[in-house]
Amino acid sequence: MNKLIASNLSMSYSSANHKVEVLNDVSLPIPQGSCIGIIGSSGSGKTTLLQILAGLETPTQGSIFYNDINLSENCLEKFNVMRNELFGYAYQFHYLLDDLTVYENCELVFRISNNKNYGDRTNRILDVLSDLGIADLRDSYPFMLSGGERQRAAIARAIVHRPNFVLMDEPTGNLDVKSGEEIMDLFKELCKEGVSILMVTHDPMLASKADRMLLLKDGLTAASDIRSAWGTDSGVEGE
Ligand SMILES: Nc1ncnc2c1ncn2[C@@H]1O[C@H](COP(=O)(O)OP(=O)(O)OP(=O)(O)O)[C@@H](O)[C@H]1O
Ligand SMILES: [Mg+2]
Repeated sequence: MNKLIASNLSMSYSSANHKVEVLNDVSLPIPQGSCIGIIGSSGSGKTTLLQILAGLETPTQGSIFYNDINLSENCLEKFNVMRNELFGYAYQFHYLLDDLTVYENCELVFRISNNKNYGDRTNRILDVLSDLGIADLRDSYPFMLSGGERQRAAIARAIVHRPNFVLMDEPTGNLDVKSGEEIMDLFKELCKEGVSILMVTHDPMLASKADRMLLLKDGLTAASDIRSAWGTDSGVEGE
């Protein structure tokens, strides 16, 4: 069984007169087919953790392993070779390319991996867009989409190439309850197919359906009681 492992990650950002410690000795195994949710207060390092896992940021300390392969060795070289095959990433702020349609944004992932199987990739893109309820918008440009439609397009782009690990940064932040539930059903289907999902979420519905919920606060700990982890009215800090 494939596994992605974050091992003893620490991260700090320094400027001339300021140092921010963001992650402190965070370890996390992500087994194949698992769906893990992460909560934590704003600024606790959730996005930073996802970016390090995908090799988009280099941690100050620690490593990312894919099975026995240390992806963090040789700086980001190994990540750069394997990133597209291993990872799908839905950014917190979408980052769809404005000059490309929804379809072309998804197709870009195949172009990067030099996938020449045009028939298969066309069908795959259309299937995923249909699963996400945005097939009719395939020829629309991002500026023509609502926030929720943009979010679904970004999710489509993250899963269309069937990566092993899908990293989602608040995937349902702009969605209504029904669309959120449909997306979670899709995530569960992906997990059954062996895809692992790690999602940052403040959405109680998503959290209730994840296999594990973790709270990022002075390291990662199990957040078995989501309500107490979130607290009553003060965001995710909880009591
Ligand atoms: N490139 C950077 N340079 C300096 N500081 C940074 C940088 N990126 C993030 N930070 C700081 O690191 C901390 C964690 O940021 P991060 O984006 O990971 O938080 P988050 O948990 O995702 O927050 P939110 O819930 O608001 O999205 C913040 O204090 C942020 O200001
Ligand atoms: Mg964030």
